[in-house]
Amino acid sequence: MNVLPVNYPAVHYFGQNPKQPVTFTTNRLQISVTYYFCTAKKSFMSALQQEINKRKTFAIISHPDAGKTTLTEKLLLFGGAIQVAGAVKNNKIKKTAASDFMEIEKQRGISVATSVMTFEYKGKLVNILDTPGHKDFAEDTYRTLSAVDSVILVIDAASGVESQTEKLMEVCRMRDTPVLIFVNKLDREGHDPFILMDELEEKLSIKVKPMTWPIGMGQRFKGVYNLPEKGVNLFEADKQRISKDIIAIKDLSSSRLNEIIGDAAADQLREDIELVEGVYDDFDKHEYESARVAPVFFGSALNNFGVQELLDAFVNIAPEPQPRTTDHGEVKPDDEKFSGFIFKIHANIDPRHRDRIAFLRVCSGRFERNTFYRHVRQGKKIKFSNPYSFMARSKEVVDDAYAGDVIGLYDTGNFKIGDTLTEGEDFSYKGVPVFSPEIFREVINKDPLKTKQLDKGVRQLTEEGVAQMFTQQPGNIKIVGTVGELQFEVIKHRLENEYGASCEFRPKPFYKAVWLTTDNEAKLKEFMRIKGRNVGYDKDDRPVFLAESKFLLETAVRDYPEIEFHTNTEFKTDAQTV
Ligand code: G4P
Repeated sequence: MNVLPVNYPAVHYFGQNPKQPVTFTTNRLQISVTYYFCTAKKSFMSALQQEINKRKTFAIISHPDAGKTTLTEKLLLFGGAIQVAGAVKNNKIKKTAASDFMEIEKQRGISVATSVMTFEYKGKLVNILDTPGHKDFAEDTYRTLSAVDSVILVIDAASGVESQTEKLMEVCRMRDTPVLIFVNKLDREGHDPFILMDELEEKLSIKVKPMTWPIGMGQRFKGVYNLPEKGVNLFEADKQRISKDIIAIKDLSSSRLNEIIGDAAADQLREDIELVEGVYDDFDKHEYESARVAPVFFGSALNNFGVQELLDAFVNIAPEPQPRTTDHGEVKPDDEKFSGFIFKIHANIDPRHRDRIAFLRVCSGRFERNTFYRHVRQGKKIKFSNPYSFMARSKEVVDDAYAGDVIGLYDTGNFKIGDTLTEGEDFSYKGVPVFSPEIFREVINKDPLKTKQLDKGVRQLTEEGVAQMFTQQPGNIKIVGTVGELQFEVIKHRLENEYGASCEFRPKPFYKAVWLTTDNEAKLKEFMRIKGRNVGYDKDDRPVFLAESKFLLETAVRDYPEIEFHTNTEFKTDAQTV
């Protein structure tokens, strides 16, 4: 029989995935060998568990200009991932570039490097997933939100909750993603913090709980009071230095407070804190994790203020990788078998090669380089020799990655957004949701000899998520839908340059695309026939109603109670429109 060395590392024998313990049929050694493998498996599992528990994967989201880029950068600075501010900022897609498509593509190319930023802080591995601030790339942000376990939402104290913020929050609510709120730009005059808190609660439809409280604002901004720690952190307007003046004030009535911040500010703070403590319940981690309450922090990212409090609280309370839903039930992150899904595809890294990078969120177990995994949709095996992870600005080839991590995989056209990879199991992660586009245009082929190229190009671009496509019959009419004007420029340019096809766009007067489901097939057929040019099919052949106005949509919902109208593809029961 085989004799194994006693201290042979488990991982060598099992590979990275210990399966069943090996048993031997003869003699008394069997018991000890079986015991050995069980112990080794246990220790592998606990090592896996430890790796997973370390990870905090989140996205920073905001309305453009609230300070998302600045805060991201400051978190990297405080987290020790970068020494000099500027790395993220330089990659931001600038608003002024809206008419300069090539410039945007260039910037998008650069921004791949900062799509995921990883650093270690206080024993935790923090993965920040960047989201584009540009409104026209909002779909990208929605997809990224499907790959995180929590979110930091940045609000500008002067502008309050803006429309895009509400929309982003809706997406977070769909999955009950825990949200931390950072109210930024306290060094400028903004809304009264109590009014802001009410606005947050009302417009974002979530209970809020202040964790820090501002002492003054604008010219009178003196710092923040840390509610759980009962300490005052004094403000010094400085973009470079990190304020170290944290003063513990255990008793707010102490005269020391008056000496430090002055009588008027001290009195105001006492009044505010009394009110805050009376109005808001104590922080409850469980409520935060179940997305029923959002802890709120105040500060000024530009001046490095309030960022430390945010980061410390974040690594403390933000959830580790969470279970995810598949069409065969829930998969837990510590499931020993690897699985994950593609949530974003970034093309055009090098236009000459049609390079694409598919971003994979590892959902369970451990991913390994050069190992065959099952591409569930295509039913084939596929391995990756150069998967990479992202450390601050640089890309690095990695040998392995754990649940919670995001890795980049070179792709030659195998992936669609939402694709699942497994160790062999046949399940798929519940897709990345698609929302209704806001602008609709018909694709007009300008070169009939290039019809094939045009079809291929439009199909591939929609698979990457650049835009959505709906097909109408008869005539195979293609309608492209996007959230911003910019995408039409992107599509036109890429079709010409990458596929040699040329097209024009004809505006369509649609207001919204809504997905249709029913148990009554006959009714749906009738609807599709009667609505004629206002219906079509999406790229996965799902029936869609292309409503021309809110009124017409409401009328259709009322007239066809047998049909369910969904505003996004995550067909929840409560997704009925309007
Ligand atoms: P975004 O990614 O959410 O779009 O916002 P970004 O960080 O780019 O910030 C938008 C503007 O707000 C920037 O000014 C930035 O410097 C400023 N800002 C960010 N945080 C604070 C803050 O705490 N206080 C103040 N007063 N301003 C802040 P900009 O003029 O558009 O750009 P720049 O010239 O400073 O780069």
